[in-house]
Amino acid sequence: MKKINWGILGFARIAMNEVIPAILEAESARLYAVASRSQEKLKEAEELYKPEKLYLSYEALLKDKDVEAVYIPLPNALHKEWAIKAMEAGKHVLCEKPLALNEKEVREMVEASKKHKVLFMEAFMYRYTERTKRVEEILESGVLGDIRHVDSTFRFFLNREGTIKMKPELGGGALYDVGCYPVNFATMVFQEEPVKVSAAAAMQNQVDVQISALLEYKDGKTASLHAGFNAFGRNYSEIIGTEGRLEIPDSFLDNEGVMTLYTDQGKEEMHVPACHRYTLEVEDFSSAILESRDPKLKLEESLQNARILDRIFQTLQ
Ligand SMILES: NC(=O)c1ccc[n+]([C@@H]2O[C@H](COP(=O)([O-])OP(=O)(O)OC[C@H]3O[C@@H](n4cnc5c(N)ncnc54)[C@H](OP(=O)(O)O)[C@@H]3O)[C@@H](O)[C@H]2O)c1
Repeated sequence: MKKINWGILGFARIAMNEVIPAILEAESARLYAVASRSQEKLKEAEELYKPEKLYLSYEALLKDKDVEAVYIPLPNALHKEWAIKAMEAGKHVLCEKPLALNEKEVREMVEASKKHKVLFMEAFMYRYTERTKRVEEILESGVLGDIRHVDSTFRFFLNREGTIKMKPELGGGALYDVGCYPVNFATMVFQEEPVKVSAAAAMQNQVDVQISALLEYKDGKTASLHAGFNAFGRNYSEIIGTEGRLEIPDSFLDNEGVMTLYTDQGKEEMHVPACHRYTLEVEDFSSAILESRDPKLKLEESLQNARILDRIFQTLQ
């Protein structure tokens, strides 16, 4: 079977711990090249994963004609620049979330992907899990009735020195880092644009370390979203409809678990099997290239996500 040659721009934690192992596991992908600004990190990449090529600059990797797809796990403020450079070099691009710092940047990236006829996707790995698949099936089934409210939280306690997540100039902050997930979740459920957005945040080092947002949709529907890295972790969502409600613990994870559906018929616990969300993501993106089709996550949705993040930030000013 033909495999897509992947190149990695930056030996980031997420690349090292999750996405490179996923590329090695996926049937349609091959780890071909890693680029890092650091010789030491390249040595580590070589020892751990033995890619065919190692490059000491991102430009050099992009010049390699055999690289077909590029994974971008750079700080958020660098996504736009490198995604566009990769697309100009004719590479398909899987870029980490959030795609960029605002809708304008995302739009430029989307235009570049069209101009250079390459696939481009935001790496929202949770959209590939068995859990999310089950949630989508339940929404599709109509068992919840009309959806009135969504509640979604992604927070963890951050205690890592020097992390990019605390650097405003690199696109740090909880909304970009983890808040984009609840925003995406609300969009997945309602599939429409909110009519009103309000928010409150706690700031530290000029970045938001905690954020709560209320999205109001037409007919009074609402989504209350919460994210942060300044207190105990929580990863949880609930969807409330006229005929039922669904509780989704570990909403953005790929572990085994249980979701609970409440209706007039009573309480139903649904077992969710574990899966490998990063491998499924890489498999879909690589297969999409091979089959000349779009990958699962649509760019329209990424634009909407960026627009909502912009509106949340605007309410904080
Ligand atoms: N999907 C997920 O589950 C998930 C999880 C965590 C993070 N993320 C996303 O992945 C991206 C990276 O996050 P991370 O936590 O893996 O970050 P990280 O470990 O700090 O890695 C970022 C990498 O960017 C490169 N880089 C280039 N210019 C830099 C600069 N000025 N300062 C710091 N690093 C620079 C570095 O690679 P070299 O030194 O090797 O060149 C560095 O290793 C972010 O967009 C984040 O939102 C996604």
